[in-house]
Amino acid sequence: MSKDRTPAAATMNAVVCRRYGPPEVLQLAKVAKPFPRPDEVRVRIHASAVTASDIFIRSARVTPALQVPFRLMMGITKPRHPVVGFVFSGVVDEVGGRISRFKPGDEVYGTTGFRLGAYAEYRCMKETDSRQHGCLALKPGNLTHEESTAAAYGGLLALQYVDKGDVRPSDSVLVYGASGTSGTIAMQYAKHLGAIVTGACSTTNIDFVKSLGADQVIDYTRTDAPPEGVRYDFVLDSVGGMKTSRLKKACKEALAAGGKYVSIDDGDLELSSERMARLKELVEAGTITPVLGRTYSLSDIVEAHRFVEGGHKRGGVAVTISHAEDRPAPEGAGG
Ligand SMILES: NC(=O)c1ccc[n+]([C@@H]2O[C@H](COP(=O)([O-])OP(=O)(O)OC[C@H]3O[C@@H](n4cnc5c(N)ncnc54)[C@H](OP(=O)(O)O)[C@@H]3O)[C@@H](O)[C@H]2O)c1
Repeated sequence: MSKDRTPAAATMNAVVCRRYGPPEVLQLAKVAKPFPRPDEVRVRIHASAVTASDIFIRSARVTPALQVPFRLMMGITKPRHPVVGFVFSGVVDEVGGRISRFKPGDEVYGTTGFRLGAYAEYRCMKETDSRQHGCLALKPGNLTHEESTAAAYGGLLALQYVDKGDVRPSDSVLVYGASGTSGTIAMQYAKHLGAIVTGACSTTNIDFVKSLGADQVIDYTRTDAPPEGVRYDFVLDSVGGMKTSRLKKACKEALAAGGKYVSIDDGDLELSSERMARLKELVEAGTITPVLGRTYSLSDIVEAHRFVEGGHKRGGVAVTISHAEDRPAPEGAGG
């Protein structure tokens, strides 16, 4: 008897990346549907996302210093794992015998780790966290799957990096890049910690950033420095080293004595299910509302990557993953 549990005909829709390059390298494909090992759950994915990480991985466009470690980790000439996609939200549909944290029917959100694979109908996940295998948690009950992908990515980044600021009530905090996936959550989280928050964004996002609770807004396209004499206890650069302006450089000089400047590119993103569980509570309490700017279908993945690569998305960009068996049968089909 065969030991292979994968039925020969079991395939699923996915997006594969067979070489590093522009958005057009992404292709729809049929790949083998995964089946969980004893220490895995299988997630039926309903939404993924196009994040900054997906753009870096697809294009291999990282700083010269990071080229070697990046390619050793992700694949020398192409992604080692051809089904790409880093973030997902879905429903557990099968669990292995050694799984204790999840059961079929649980609505979950997570990140895949270096093995990627979220641009697909199904993905098997371990229930323990690791950089290689990602992290998995119950998703916020009041969010759609699409919104949950923005929560997962922006929330993991925002909570990790705002916590580095050791923010206290009444601290003066500046979030540089307040309109991005992580910036929108970082601002709301800093407000929750009691800070007085300034958001830095472009002209088109001023009202939007105010609507998220910013006490002050600075337009990085029109202002080269914070107002004279203003000092911040904590400055978070939430867009990273690839995006800058005169204002960003001036913010580094506007720290109060003992103040901290943290870039979201400092160190590695921690894939923490504990942090995702904390985020779920904050979202369900209405303290944090993740922002979803746009949603694409899996078949429009090239267009979605083009848009995100433009660098001006507002909040997150989700990708809806539909399943053939959920679509109504064409009229006249069946018995
Ligand atoms: N440490 C790690 O391991 C790790 C892991 C993953 C990601 N990251 C970092 O996290 C970053 C944040 O990703 P994200 O998805 O939250 O951000 P993002 O969504 O990529 O940022 C988009 C926002 O950036 C704003 N923006 C564009 N150019 C800007 C500029 N020159 N100055 C200020 N804002 C600008 C845009 O607003 P406007 O349209 O108003 O310009 C847009 O709303 C990534 O880019 C990456 O560097 C780090």
